[in-house]
Formats: sequence, structure tokens, C-alpha cells
Amino acid sequence: MLNVGVFAYAPMKSILMGTLMSQPDIYLSICTSNVREVFSHPFGPSDILIVEDQLLKDNQSVQSTFARLTCRKFLIGITHDLACARRAISLGAVDVVEEATAGQEIMALLEPYVRNEVDRPSEVIAVYSAKGGVGKTTLALNLAWAMADMTSHPVALLDMDIFGDIGSMLLERPPISIVDVIQGLENGMSEDKALQSLFMSKKLGLTIVPASTNPQQAEIIRRDHISQVINMVKTTHAYVILDLPAGLTENNLAALDAADQIVVVALPEQVSLKTVARSMEILERLYAERLTIALNRTDSGTGITSDDVGRMLGRPVSFSLASGGVAPVKYSNQGIPLVQADRKNALSVDILRMANYFVTESEGLHRPRLKPVLHSTKS
Ligand SMILES: Nc1ncnc2c1ncn2[C@@H]1O[C@H](COP(=O)(O)OP(=O)(O)O)[C@@H](O)[C@H]1O
Ligand SMILES: [Mg+2]
Repeated sequence: MLNVGVFAYAPMKSILMGTLMSQPDIYLSICTSNVREVFSHPFGPSDILIVEDQLLKDNQSVQSTFARLTCRKFLIGITHDLACARRAISLGAVDVVEEATAGQEIMALLEPYVRNEVDRPSEVIAVYSAKGGVGKTTLALNLAWAMADMTSHPVALLDMDIFGDIGSMLLERPPISIVDVIQGLENGMSEDKALQSLFMSKKLGLTIVPASTNPQQAEIIRRDHISQVINMVKTTHAYVILDLPAGLTENNLAALDAADQIVVVALPEQVSLKTVARSMEILERLYAERLTIALNRTDSGTGITSDDVGRMLGRPVSFSLASGGVAPVKYSNQGIPLVQADRKNALSVDILRMANYFVTESEGLHRPRLKPVLHSTKS
């Protein structure tokens, strides 16, 4: 069943209602010309919203809020009108439908979504290191947060560490853990239901799946569960960030197998680097094409430079992450991600740059530019 919403004036509303309500696989979840009603509607990432361009034109001030709605959007307007095309781009619309023929055309356009055949480009970014305490979780959480702020597409953050602490680093602890999801699926819950149960910050379009608070429970997680959960989350999220534990366990290898990009986090410290260097042999053999190195606390004055690290690890450092001083710990104690609490912190600046790199690499420079919400501490 495909959930479809319509935001249009009365004449277009009745045309679309006539078409959509007779479709057995479509559920018309909302049909309105009221902006507030649309904004308070709980759209999911795989839902569709059909927007009449005239209504966008008449509500200029809310266009960026529309762009942030984490569903897929179709715009109904005059396809050869440049201003309409611009609004479609800033809306992040997947398609523009000709106003005059919308009633006839709309079903042909929705058909692939009904059949769930639409290829959603999805990128899995794993944050990994053979060592603990190097900043993996700090990076994964803040990177996901920053990317969600930069893109109009849904982003997910999965805590794959049995002892993971992403949940406790947030004021509002996401209630459904990865173990809950796995148990649900094992007990016959459908993937659609499981996806709907996940915690999502609507404002950012960020889904967060924490680790279970009971590490003993986490022992049920097997390699195939990891692949299943990642693939499932990929179907409704454009970016999936994985926070992995240290080591090269079976489960970690399953997660790395599913990743398109593997960010290996290292510290400029001799002992820690040696461990990371040893793991690089295996990583290079299995995942050479996907690896990048992020050097954390680059400026900590250990006497080991970025070039030294590049030599030791056998590939250059791609991302330098400055030390954030006490701020990362201070804000994590308060349950607020660093990039949200203090955008100007040196580590925030570096993580925001990294997020921009990943989003731009995938969506290009000319993606819809959105008004960031990171200046506010409410999520
Ligand atoms: N660049 C940084 N500047 C300051 N503190 C940092 C930085 N990176 C990580 N930390 C802190 O170091 C500790 C370990 O980081 P964490 O992200 O939990 O590492 P890991 O997930 O690799 O075990 C945390 O207290 C975190 O706040
Ligand atoms: Mg961690």
C-alpha cells in the first residue's frame, strides 16, 4: 500500500481524489490546501506528497519547510515554466506533472512506486576502526546529524556496537533498538512495519536506531541480521551511517560488506596506529575501493603528522578532524550532538565539511539548498 498525500486547491484536489481513491494499492492519507495540516502530517520517507505549484507560489515563505518533509514529492505545475522548474528543484521533487493532464498522468507516474520498483540511490557509510576510543561514535553521530541537515533526503544512523552509546548521547533516547528490530522481524513483523517503528527526528529527517540497553540481548545478533537490517533501512533512506565497534568480527564484516564507503578512524598515536595499520592489510584486501582515512585529533601535538599517518596506513589521510576540546564530552553529557550545540567548534567545522563532501559527492553541488536547522537546539 502506497501512502499518498495531496496538497492542492479545490479543483485539482477533486481531480486527484477521483483518480487516487479508486486505486486499490493507494491510500490517500491527506488531501488538503492547508499548509499547517501538511506540516503536522506524519509523512514517512517512502510516502508520496503531490503538491500543486500554485499553492507553493502562494506560500513562498514555507517552501523550504516543504523541501524538508521527508517524503517523495511530485509537483503539479506548468512544466515549461522556468519558475516552476526552479520550485521543483528547491522542493527536491522527483518529477513535475503537467497541470492540464495531471488527472490522466498521475497514475502512470505513481505506478513504479506502488510496485516498489523505484531505485532509490542509497549510500551506506561505515565509520570503523580496529581501535576503540578513537572517536568513531562521535564522528558517526555528528556526521549523520550534519548530513541530515544538508540533504532533503532521509538519513539513518545505526548503532552496530553491542555496547553502543548513541542512545545515551541524545536527550530523547530513541525507543526502538536494533535488537528490537531484529526480534520483531524474527517474530514475523513485516519490514514495512519495522521501518515505521523506528525513531525519526522529523525536523532533520534523521532516523536513529540505537543499540539495545541490554548487551546480553545483543548476543542474538547474527551476521545475516546485520545485512538484513542494513538492506531494509536502505530501502527508505538515501544515506545510512553505521557506527561500528572495534575489531573485525563476523558481524562487523557483514556491515563492512554492505558499506559503500568505509571511513577508517585513526588517532595520531603510535600504539593505536599500529593496531589500525595491522587491520589495514585485511581491509585493503577486501575493500580497497571503499576505504578512506579520517585522522581524529590531528592537532593534538603528538609529533605524528598526517603524512606520517598516511605512510603508516598505506594511504593518505582524506579527512582531518580537529580536537574539539572538552565540547564533545560536555555536549554529549547534555545529550546534544556537537554539530547541533556548537557549529563553530573546530571539530564541528571539520565534520560539517566532511558531511558536505559526502552529500555533494552523491547529489552534486546543485542540490536543493536548505535552510539549516542546526542553529537551533531543538530537534
Ligand atoms: N576530536 C575530538 N575532540 C575532543 N574529544 C573527542 C574527539 N573525538 C572523540 N572525542 C572524545 O573521545 C571519547 C571517545 O570517543 P568515541 O567517539 O566514543 O570513540 P569510539 O566510538 O571510537 O570508541 C569521547 O569522550 C569523545 O567525546
Ligand atoms: Mg563507539
